[in-house]
Amino acid sequence: MTRSYDAIEVLDELAVIARACTLCGLHETRTNVVFGAGDSDADVMIVGEGPGQQEDEQGIPFVGRSGQLLDSLLNEIGIERSDVYIANVVKCRPPRNRDPRTDEIDECKPYLRRQIELIDPLAVVTLGNFSTKLLLRTTTGITRLRGTAYEWWGRYLVPTFHPAAALRGGERVTNDIRTDLALVRAIIDGRLSDTETIESGAAETPVPEAPTRTQLDLFGEPS
Ligand code: URA
Repeated sequence: MTRSYDAIEVLDELAVIARACTLCGLHETRTNVVFGAGDSDADVMIVGEGPGQQEDEQGIPFVGRSGQLLDSLLNEIGIERSDVYIANVVKCRPPRNRDPRTDEIDECKPYLRRQIELIDPLAVVTLGNFSTKLLLRTTTGITRLRGTAYEWWGRYLVPTFHPAAALRGGERVTNDIRTDLALVRAIIDGRLSDTETIESGAAETPVPEAPTRTQLDLFGEPS
């Protein structure tokens, strides 16, 4: 049976549990659990992959170079970091920044699921392949999925490149992130057109509309 935090109604309580978590091997090498940071009532929630070295040291997501780029791209659309909530798929740093493994993601995803439910954002922005594939339940890559706002469990999901990809890939990737964040701005402003929205069934594996906003079966498991 899937672990569930449905009984937890306050984000800080969930953070206390996560900070003591030993469910996967990542706890052995972490310095800090990077649970998430920002406005717990945010309209926009951003989901990255997993903490890097600086995040592990400080216990705060996106404080390194990727985070600085993310902050400045958010600023361009009139959003401050303090306006959003930022979390990751895995809350502990994978050693030497390797990709998170499936077993680690599986153990960690109940935290993310409850974070999304409690924050209840209007838009979830997924950065890169890991968060996008997990939340849209697809194997399709970010390059194909980005550029669209997906209707997702009674809210929107906007997939975009990870800022680390922009740091490697230069202005073209950065501009694609800008284009995607413009969709986020349009969502917040209530002016997203139908042509910019796709039902999440457009992803390779269909993601049905959620019947309610409670008990979200976000990751395709029985709730
Ligand atoms: N990359 C991520 O995906 N998350 C962080 O918190 C930092 C870098």
